[in-house]
Amino acid sequence: MSSKEVPGQLVTEKDHAGVTREGANRIEAALKAAVAARGHASLALSGGNTPRGAYATLAQASGIDWSKVDIFWVDERAVPPGDDRSNYRWAKATLLDNARMDPAKVHRMPADASDLEAAAKSYEKTLRDHVAGDAEAVPVIDVMVLGVGDDGHTASLFPGDRAVDVTDRSVVAVGAQHGLEARLTLTRPVIQRSRLVLILVQGGEKRAALARAWAATGDVHETPSRLLRDCKGEVVWIVDQAAAPP
Ligand code: 6PG
Repeated sequence: MSSKEVPGQLVTEKDHAGVTREGANRIEAALKAAVAARGHASLALSGGNTPRGAYATLAQASGIDWSKVDIFWVDERAVPPGDDRSNYRWAKATLLDNARMDPAKVHRMPADASDLEAAAKSYEKTLRDHVAGDAEAVPVIDVMVLGVGDDGHTASLFPGDRAVDVTDRSVVAVGAQHGLEARLTLTRPVIQRSRLVLILVQGGEKRAALARAWAATGDVHETPSRLLRDCKGEVVWIVDQAAAPP
């Protein structure tokens, strides 16, 4: 497959260290540009293993005025915030604590709530209160970090799940499935409206999923990361050599 078919810009790195460095550099540059242009910035974080190094590197970046950056989550698992499976826990350990971020700027997704539907609605309000919406009132996030699962999921939009089709909500609850806990996730329109989407992918087990995400034809319900083909903003795939399809 030629890189011309990739929906967006493709940056191929030798290894995970390269993905980490490039990911951190791009997030830093985009946050600084957003603050310079509009006086503030919003950053939405994914979980998973891949971006942890980039978050830790970002915490050391000089010149980001964190008092002007609001932090959100792309998705969160229904576990307590200190749990090893919590996306908040890892962002806190790698980025939030090291950058000494003001807790008022950190907007944790409350997926540990007993009523996940109510929690999704409350996070929609959080987004509305802190992020300006476009003409259709969809919040426009400056920088969104995403990953891709072996099965082609992105955020917590999984193959075959109805959440992939939701366009009238910005946050939804996703039921427990495939042995995974229930979750909250941002929806397709919020992802597609972000000014910059950075997708960090590493490891050979992701290669088949990336090939399906990048193929000229395919089904978004089978491979939800295909929704990244219809983004309005800039899309950058930062992929290591093992994950990059030939
Ligand atoms: C999550 C995610 C998810 C993740 C991918 C890739 O909470 O699970 O946000 O969408 O980005 O599953 O995860 P890895 O980086 O661990 O491969």
